[in-house]
Amino acid sequence: MFDLKKNYEVSRKLAAQGMVLLENNEHVLPIQSMDRVGIIGKECLNLIKGGGGSGNVKCEYVKSFADGLREKAEEGKLIFVENTIEIAEKTEAYDVCILNQIAATTDKVIITMQRQGTEGEDRTVEEFGPTAQEVELLQNIEASDIKKVILILNFANVVDLSFIKKYPKVKSVLFASMPGMECGSAIMDVLCGDVNPSGKLVDTIAYTYEDYPTAEWFNYNPRETKYQEGIFVGYRYFETFAKEKVLYPFGYGLSYTRFEYSNYGFVEEEDNIKITLDVTNVGACAGREVVQAYCSAPQGKLPKPALELKGYAKTKELNPGETETLNIQFAVKEMASYDTEGVTVAKAAWVLEKGIYRIYVAKSVRHLYHCGDYEVAETMATEQTINRFTEEKYIQKQCRFSDDIFEIGEKISLYDVSDGKADMDSFINQLSAEELISLGLGQPIAFPMGTSGIGNLKKYGVPNPQTADGPVGVRRSVNTTCFPCSTLIACSWDQELQFAMGAAMGYEGYSTGIDILLGPAMNIHRDPLGGRNNEYFSEDPLISGKTAAALVKGLQSEGLCATLKHFAANNCEDSRNVNNSIVEERALREIYLKGFEIAVKESNPAYIMTSYNLLNGEHTSANAGLLRGILRDEWHYEGATMTDWRNGVSMVDEVIGGNNIKMPFGYPDEGEKVLKAYQEGKIPLRMLRENAFYVVNSVMKTRSFKQHDFGIIHKMEGESLDIPVLKVNGLASARITHARREDGAEYLFHLNREQRNQRSFVYYVLDIPKEGEYRISAEICTNCPETQIWFYDEDGNRLGTAYCSVATDESKWYTVETKINLKKGENMLKLVFANEPYKEYEYFFAGPEIPNAWPELAKEDIWMAKLKLSYVNK
Ligand code: BGC
Repeated sequence: MFDLKKNYEVSRKLAAQGMVLLENNEHVLPIQSMDRVGIIGKECLNLIKGGGGSGNVKCEYVKSFADGLREKAEEGKLIFVENTIEIAEKTEAYDVCILNQIAATTDKVIITMQRQGTEGEDRTVEEFGPTAQEVELLQNIEASDIKKVILILNFANVVDLSFIKKYPKVKSVLFASMPGMECGSAIMDVLCGDVNPSGKLVDTIAYTYEDYPTAEWFNYNPRETKYQEGIFVGYRYFETFAKEKVLYPFGYGLSYTRFEYSNYGFVEEEDNIKITLDVTNVGACAGREVVQAYCSAPQGKLPKPALELKGYAKTKELNPGETETLNIQFAVKEMASYDTEGVTVAKAAWVLEKGIYRIYVAKSVRHLYHCGDYEVAETMATEQTINRFTEEKYIQKQCRFSDDIFEIGEKISLYDVSDGKADMDSFINQLSAEELISLGLGQPIAFPMGTSGIGNLKKYGVPNPQTADGPVGVRRSVNTTCFPCSTLIACSWDQELQFAMGAAMGYEGYSTGIDILLGPAMNIHRDPLGGRNNEYFSEDPLISGKTAAALVKGLQSEGLCATLKHFAANNCEDSRNVNNSIVEERALREIYLKGFEIAVKESNPAYIMTSYNLLNGEHTSANAGLLRGILRDEWHYEGATMTDWRNGVSMVDEVIGGNNIKMPFGYPDEGEKVLKAYQEGKIPLRMLRENAFYVVNSVMKTRSFKQHDFGIIHKMEGESLDIPVLKVNGLASARITHARREDGAEYLFHLNREQRNQRSFVYYVLDIPKEGEYRISAEICTNCPETQIWFYDEDGNRLGTAYCSVATDESKWYTVETKINLKKGENMLKLVFANEPYKEYEYFFAGPEIPNAWPELAKEDIWMAKLKLSYVNK
């Protein structure tokens, strides 16, 4: 397939950059070249690469500890005691005797603690603490001759780690989270010091589950969740009310070196707080440092958290003695609080209360350096809004479209709009109610493990762009790169690498025929038991928003559209479709919507997916306050919104609420209900038009649409085809080479090896004069010994195959042909290029699926010219 190796490197690098060193006593880490290192425990044989559900990516391999240790041993960085792997394979429970055997041959041993995480179910309180087996192993280790234990935490959710202190032989603890396909190697990079750990925690680790402010209220009732802790989530709670309950604070992480901060201070310029500081590596080895900026707002009429993260930066790799000056900037108004009730100077407004705002730079939320104070002389509102969830229902005041019926002129295609030949409003106004509604429905899936298409109004030039999960890699039936889970990505605090990961996924998605990635996922880690915490970033909205924005920018830089999900307040998984999140407006604004707001404003994602849950009594997908009020009116979002899959909510309510696409494919009856509501006057035409506008506006950003832009084939019209070709589109990346044959004929295209390996197909739209059997022929030449062209109709049915079993070079051309049945009028024909052996991929053809991504393509070049179609007289 296409080259994934470079992306595997990004995955490994990001994983290592995210890992957080929690303990390192007696300098057990980094491992030294003479250290004899082994593993203990079956868990070490199968590391968990990532979470389940939409976060589960099919990849070529998952590096184990054995792989990682072997790599380092080969590089002379440690001595790998290989037989500890064999022992692990056959040992269920390690008694002191076995441990003593291991102790005799090792200096340091690695053990792991694992927990899974997946959508659709939350974790349990039992899983939060150590299991009986884990305790037994640690007790036996203490009783044995083993001396130095390195504990690897292979999970994303926070668990109880206070028990570790009872086992003094556990010298080092590394939070490796779910590190993706390169896990064994990335962990060993950190343990050996090839990468000096620089990740910092994005969640507070408290002593026990009961210490979390949400514990009592998490999942107490399948039908509702009261967010009674308000804005006091994570460190906002612990630092304000319960400092003593914290084992590892937010933002904490150790390094093999030490950093000193100096010359820290800030200036206010153009309503921004601009912090500068010098960071010097004062230790003995190179490393990177994450610097956080916090604000402590004055307690006024609105209660405030003791500290809030307002910005951050990460140094480059600093050599011992080296200094870097960092800048961190944020707007003054970012220090404001939301006043729902009007207890200060304004109701439903962001307010800066008078008093001293203390500004800090920090190594963690507990390790602060005071930069100075910012004084607000008089309480002031910085932005007036409307309470969207506590007051009367949202009423739309303005709509871009009217209910007028227009006379239909010549058909306008979406390409006419993109070419500037027609305007968008005329395009929309020509569509019937049925057509407008169909644009709001999920569309057929074009390949295995795809999730659904959208758009698909071909006669108006609207293609069927394809979606695929998910947040940590492109989830396909073919191998792609499995990146670290979202929590670990956030722990890197490294926006450059996050961008690189987005770009890598963008490339993979684009190359395997995807248009829209269903990620990043970015809900708040409200509670440590959240089933999808591994897919989400952090307990803090700023780091969630910035991380999501970096990923979206990366994805979209490669032409893949991103989807922020799940909008909003999806914080538990058990009964996720019926659970009503009851959240006060201030907590929504400051915590649960804040990250989305940052990502929307900084990265403009093409799509947003609403969540399954209800929010303050209404499903989010039908929530006009959320979708029309906040997203459109306040944030000026112009992309499209889609539902989560099979959410069971009425599409009529969703259209009224402002959700644009009902996902996935397969709910035509919902469309019929919308049509009925329109006919009965319950849904105005302008609403259907506006909805369709957002859909096509976003479709225009997709790969599928852009490929049509190449318009190569217009030139061929009437020239080499007996039947007029309306349009020919396709080819991954549309990297089509134009060339001329010696006899002067123009190539339709030339696929070289690299292009072929990306995606080898081409679409034709043909105008067929009468229904019947047609002979279709093409002139091709190829240096691949066995080439076939497979012809498909638009529903993915294979119509015929043309074979060419002779390899030549560009000098010799062959005519290949087959017969196919075509209907009268417009026919979409898809040509897929393949070669033998293909039998093992036959399953690709079950159902209406088209093999867009071909795992084993011909290794050589193919040229093709002159597609001909002629009617076969019967
Ligand atoms: C998940 C989404 C996912 C969708 C499509 C749903 O179950 O909640 O996050 O994108 O399925 O796979």
